[in-house]
Amino acid sequence: MRARRSGALTGRVRAPGDKSISHRALILGLLAVGETRIEGLLEGEDVLATGRAAEALGATVERLSAGRWRVFGVGVGGLKNPSGTLDFGNAGTGSRLMMGVVGGASVEATFDGDASLRSRPMRRILDPLEQMGAKVVASAEGGRVPLTLRGPNRAIPITYETPAPSAQIKSAVLLAGLNAPGVTTVIEREATRDHTERMLRAFGADVTVEQHGEHGRVIRLVGEPELKGTEISVPADPSSAAFPLVAALVTPGSEITIEGVMTNPLRTGLVKTLIEMGADITLSDVHEVGGEEVADLVVRASALSGVDVPPERAPTMIDEYPVLAVAASFAAGETRMRGLHELRVKESDRLAAVHAGLLACGVEARIEGDDLIVTGRGAVPGGGPAVATHLDHRIAMSFLVMGLASEKPVAIDDAGMITTSFPDFSPLMRGLGAAIEPVDGVGAQP
Ligand code: S3P
Repeated sequence: MRARRSGALTGRVRAPGDKSISHRALILGLLAVGETRIEGLLEGEDVLATGRAAEALGATVERLSAGRWRVFGVGVGGLKNPSGTLDFGNAGTGSRLMMGVVGGASVEATFDGDASLRSRPMRRILDPLEQMGAKVVASAEGGRVPLTLRGPNRAIPITYETPAPSAQIKSAVLLAGLNAPGVTTVIEREATRDHTERMLRAFGADVTVEQHGEHGRVIRLVGEPELKGTEISVPADPSSAAFPLVAALVTPGSEITIEGVMTNPLRTGLVKTLIEMGADITLSDVHEVGGEEVADLVVRASALSGVDVPPERAPTMIDEYPVLAVAASFAAGETRMRGLHELRVKESDRLAAVHAGLLACGVEARIEGDDLIVTGRGAVPGGGPAVATHLDHRIAMSFLVMGLASEKPVAIDDAGMITTSFPDFSPLMRGLGAAIEPVDGVGAQP
């Protein structure tokens, strides 16, 4: 795919359903007794893989119409052994959360995925699960997938301090703790997205959250609850909204509205940073959807200036650094993004992939330790070789956004992965006026 310099972007759009919440809705639907109805589910490849895994573990999962799904759950103690391998494709969140489910229940399952997932660390999930009584029956080198995990009859409730600020680690421990007699406690030094805690409560679990130090939290879950099926409305994903948002900021003359975007403060670090850079973003029609605050974002093209992004903001914008780096490329002056070590273990080594992509587009950028420094000159040359996306959807979308305002087009080597999180990315962007097109019909997203 290739993106070309475009005229002003205009119009109203709705970003797809939140990926984190969509995975959790299917997983808790599996673990609840009775019917769970989901509205606005993200129908991306990652989430569909979680739906198939939930079925393999015993749930009945049905699509009623676009975004409307129904899950009949089997209850925390009612999982069955899947007959085949659970193939999670590209999905880190789906696989890691489901490892928490399996690792806490008396079932055995084999997990696998694509080349990206096979390269990602799973020890961070397996370590606490082993403390809770799970056994790793087999695994690839370093505890990676493909791996086979067997849960205990009853999990052991533990107190676990997460070694990295990761909602996936926290969630895996809490999900395993559902089958533990007693209280499972997770301590995080830096608060991460809290969708698992919120949704567990909505399904009837007893979960309490306390502040821990300046930035952290302690989460306590009372085990062996009777989870009851419920109704979940999935708000629009701020991590997907980030692409039209930055596209409108950097494309001169643009004014767009992105509807119903989740504004959970543990997800809005990008908006905060962009406003510090001088972005014209206003929130309107703030209301609640399914226990989460949402708002329409009105975004106008803006002259941006470089800023220093503190490391403690990283958990609230962890997936948005690639597209922030694009915004920083069009800003005036230096943007320093600090403390990005976790970016190295995403769908790709995102720190290396973003840096290489910026250089390919003629942007001055460097890595110092875990910091990425971008020197913006208000304009981007583009026109370089196709940016290598390394099976990473967010790298692909970020550099297509770059091409909308760069002097020469920006091409990416593969757009196939975009369907994992944002199946309608290209048509939605084109609807706003973005010039995004297949290169010779190869690697095109429909
Ligand atoms: C997610 C947590 C984050 C994020 C991922 C989704 C989640 O990963 O990068 O895209 O839904 O819990 P980590 O928990 O590994 O930081």
